[in-house]
Amino acid sequence: MSNIVNENNVVISLENVSKVFYDLKKGPLTVLDNVSFSCKKGEIVGIVGPNGAGKTTLLRIISSLISPTSGIVKVNGLDNSKYGEENKKNIGFLSSDTSIYERLTGKEFLLFFAELYGMEKDFALKRIDELSEILDFKKIENRVCKNLSTGEKQKISIARAMINDPNILILDEATNGLDILARKHILWLVKNAKEKGKTVLYSAHAMDEIEKLSDKIIFLFNGKLISNGSTEELKKQFNCDDLTQCFLNNIEQYEKK
Ligand SMILES: Nc1ncnc2c1ncn2[C@@H]1O[C@H](COP(=O)(O)OP(=O)(O)O)[C@@H](O)[C@H]1O
Ligand SMILES: [Mg+2]
Repeated sequence: MSNIVNENNVVISLENVSKVFYDLKKGPLTVLDNVSFSCKKGEIVGIVGPNGAGKTTLLRIISSLISPTSGIVKVNGLDNSKYGEENKKNIGFLSSDTSIYERLTGKEFLLFFAELYGMEKDFALKRIDELSEILDFKKIENRVCKNLSTGEKQKISIARAMINDPNILILDEATNGLDILARKHILWLVKNAKEKGKTVLYSAHAMDEIEKLSDKIIFLFNGKLISNGSTEELKKQFNCDDLTQCFLNNIEQYEKK
């Protein structure tokens, strides 16, 4: 819960986190290599990196969906290796391919998850009402998910990730494949979460989104954190005005080393 955030307001911290996958044919594959950074309360942190950079693996490790091979991850000051299940309750995780139960209505689906979180039904219904207001899905909440559009389904998925009001939101390429309106809605939601003091970790390929939203940006390349700073800091560091170009300059410098 947010009351266990430590004095520096650090909500997520990673210390030398590495992940090695073992492939039967290719052998060990280091997907994350000594990644360290932290995120504070009310901060939006954008993660940028090409396909295969390790973004999803990183976000899944923070969310206690998989464990790191080495290193320490703390959420609200509690070590994932010990308090993973507890920490999961404080994280809403959303990706572009989060599946929803097609045969349930949106409302039934959300109630199902609320129950998993141990929420009382009356309380859950109130929360769903609140979310349907924020996310504007009142009109569709009683329709079977199977018949919803991609954007509508994504709204229900976002509501699912937020049902228990976690203090951390993790969005892994959550705006992929969405239309302009649905995208705008998610961006608004991220800003709104920040205003409420939540921490948002956000991966996306759309640099304009990252630039507009993030207080801090992390460049990830081949499993390594190659830069970490605000937009202004990165622009200064790489001496250019375009964030995409900053990333390219960063890779070039990194590969020369
Ligand atoms: N369960 C797994 N087993 C083996 N390799 C994996 C597994 N999950 C991811 N990888 C590999 O790890 C690398 C990073 O993947 P991922 O974290 O999904 O990157 P990104 O989200 O940045 O595209 C890729 O090379 C991917 O193939
Ligand atoms: Mg990914």
